Amino acid sequence: MSKPSILVTRAVFPEVIDRLAQYFDVDSNQQDEALDAAALKARLAGKAGVLANAADRIDGALVAALPALRAVCNMAVGYNNLDVAALTAAGIVATNTPDVLTETTADFGWALLMATARRVTESEHWLRAGKWERWSFDMFLGMDLHGSTLGILGMGRIGQALARRAAGFGMPVIYHNRSRLPEDTERALNARYVSKAGLLAQSDHLILVLPYSAQSHHSIGAAELAQMKPSATLVNLARGGIVDDAALAEALRERRLFAAGLDVFEGEPQVHPGLLAVPNVVLTPHIASASEKTRRAMADLAADNLIAALDAGPQAGHPSSVINPDVMARRR
Ligand code: DGY
Repeated sequence: MSKPSILVTRAVFPEVIDRLAQYFDVDSNQQDEALDAAALKARLAGKAGVLANAADRIDGALVAALPALRAVCNMAVGYNNLDVAALTAAGIVATNTPDVLTETTADFGWALLMATARRVTESEHWLRAGKWERWSFDMFLGMDLHGSTLGILGMGRIGQALARRAAGFGMPVIYHNRSRLPEDTERALNARYVSKAGLLAQSDHLILVLPYSAQSHHSIGAAELAQMKPSATLVNLARGGIVDDAALAEALRERRLFAAGLDVFEGEPQVHPGLLAVPNVVLTPHIASASEKTRRAMADLAADNLIAALDAGPQAGHPSSVINPDVMARRR
């Protein structure tokens, strides 16, 4: 019997391709060519499954054109690239990679926050440009973290991992989320629930870790930035589009906000020119989960999910992180 065909849309660890090849006829993009919508559709034709990346848009029109597709396994915890309703209606199982990246992403959130508040990259660029002629007492004065208030918008797994780390800096944590955490979790995290307006007004440092959706689009725009302290910093670890990057660039340029740290951007890999033009922003290319160990764990989990979702391997029929469990229930 011939093996089912799958597509791996972007380059991934070769060992993962080898493992998938035990079960599937693998079309893998190990050259990491950019696949636009038309190329993605062409490569997916006749495939039973896909190991996808957060940048691969799998929408209703694409789903309708792919009657053979049975599983879409994202190598990312975020899945705003998928039209989950269309996948569910078509009986296609969708999975993501939660948990394995939580701690690594939270570590990076702190790296970005510290670099932002203490002007690490700005001062390094200045030094590398040969501008350091003498020391002075007011060089690159930043904002303290210790003792200041950390605000977190979105209090899921990554938000909670960020909050746990705040204890080491003696920082009280305030948060806003769609739903409030149980009291004992709040107590363990030393985190206090506040309204979104309260979060904006009281945070000395605000980190965004909420999922992207039509509802969370531009959660931080000109009106929200105007409610923040001019001495505050803002870190976006979540997704491009959560922040109105044009409004943020303007607020940074006019020093209505002290600084920002951004790992994700609207329309990435393009970055708003206004952000590139201001010194008080730290910019990184969507690497929050990019440690060797974690990227391997994400790739392994996505591969395990694909194998199981296509009824192969030791977990056949039981992928572990299913976004649309109705589909699996219907299959049984
Ligand atoms: C995720 O897992 O969602 C990260 O942003 C990588 O895409």
